[in-house]
Amino acid sequence: MIDPTAKKTMQIWGFAKQHLVAGVSASTRVNKALGRPFIAVRGQGSRLWGVDGNELIDLCTSHGGSILGHKHPKIVAAIQKALDMGIMCSYETEYQGRLAAKICQMVPAAELCRFTCSGTEATMHAIRLARTITGREKILKFEGHFHGYHDYVQFTWGPDLKALPSPDESPTIAESAGIPKGMNQYCIAAPFNNLNALEKAIDRHKDDLAAVICEPINYNAGCIIPDKEYMRAMRQLCSDNGILLIYDEVLSAFRMGPDCGQGYLGITPDLCTIGKCVAGGTPLSVFAGKKEYMEQVSPLGKSAHSGTYTGHLIPVMAAIACLEEISSPGFYEHINALAEKLYGGMEELLAKYKIQARVQGLGARFGLYFGVDKEVRSYRDAARADKEILMRFLKLTYENGIYFHDYQGHPCHHGFSSAHSLEDMDEVLTRLESVLKKLG
Ligand SMILES: Cc1ncc(COP(=O)(O)O)c(C=O)c1O
Repeated sequence: MIDPTAKKTMQIWGFAKQHLVAGVSASTRVNKALGRPFIAVRGQGSRLWGVDGNELIDLCTSHGGSILGHKHPKIVAAIQKALDMGIMCSYETEYQGRLAAKICQMVPAAELCRFTCSGTEATMHAIRLARTITGREKILKFEGHFHGYHDYVQFTWGPDLKALPSPDESPTIAESAGIPKGMNQYCIAAPFNNLNALEKAIDRHKDDLAAVICEPINYNAGCIIPDKEYMRAMRQLCSDNGILLIYDEVLSAFRMGPDCGQGYLGITPDLCTIGKCVAGGTPLSVFAGKKEYMEQVSPLGKSAHSGTYTGHLIPVMAAIACLEEISSPGFYEHINALAEKLYGGMEELLAKYKIQARVQGLGARFGLYFGVDKEVRSYRDAARADKEILMRFLKLTYENGIYFHDYQGHPCHHGFSSAHSLEDMDEVLTRLESVLKKLG
């Protein structure tokens, strides 16, 4: 039985708050639309079950981590194998090399890889490596692009629109307290999908720039697919000026195809990072790139990288199983069929109920922008979407059995897994219709 008062959730959260900051292990887990976290008891395939008895169709999918859905039997078997081997970490086995080989076979930029536990560490190491290779210290990142929580990149990923007065310039705005003031001199920000702005920023800083880092598909602002011409020009500007191009594919990797955002765009960066769905919902990320560059990582080179838990056998085994599944025939045909059904169905419902909103998706992830009537091409377009309707929508969808996560009112991405079926999407659309009837 579903308890609409969420009594158990409130009890568990209340207990957690006594010893765990805000009662959650990650800040965004306090779902602003609900005013509390969602407390899960179980996940299976496309579904989640909450502690108050509610069953939800999951359109968060572990923020993109669970591309095969929850509790996929092949991931469970892979983890079991790692457990049987002894829950070892800090030891190499035959499987780390096998996983690296699979990644290098699938991802165009990857000639050599290293593993990390999180995407945050992966971008940190990729940037350190770019600085090692070029002997330069600055990086250029884009407005609305998120690259994790370390101090090099904790700038301008979710700025207030009022802080962005000029269309062709982005200020470097710290997104957290506690970042040393001097750090911002190492990070140049620019608006994305705007060639004039990029040319100007590169021209001004080219001699100091070690890297340009971007999300090739800007899913952190929902789903912004950049112009291919712009991305080609970015590649060229980097090559011409001795700047390394880093694609942060922590979120975009394997989302729309086995060769990631770089394959989709047909552009190969110098370095890339991969995370989230690579390991089927277990903690593993990757930084990878051209052999000559990756050979600068220790102990071959001087760019330090190590860690007790890096390349932990449990996520390594899970990742091998996950990538085998992703590579299996028909995998992306299924993802694309689901995408077409969901995104097309949502657009039809929004039109039917005369709700102004835009659905933008590529592969298994999408953005939903209320109050927007034209293509969202930049973070600024995304940030102009109506947050008040979004909050009401997220709450109603939860009450109607769909789990969309809220990112504290920021532009956000949602998505599904290969465990979702076309029938699940019919059910999502039926539940969404009830929501939109009330929302309009
Ligand atoms: C593009 C991108 N880079 C880096 C990160 C950080 O990854 P993690 O949360 O694993 O540290 C994220 C997380 O959402 C991301 O979307």
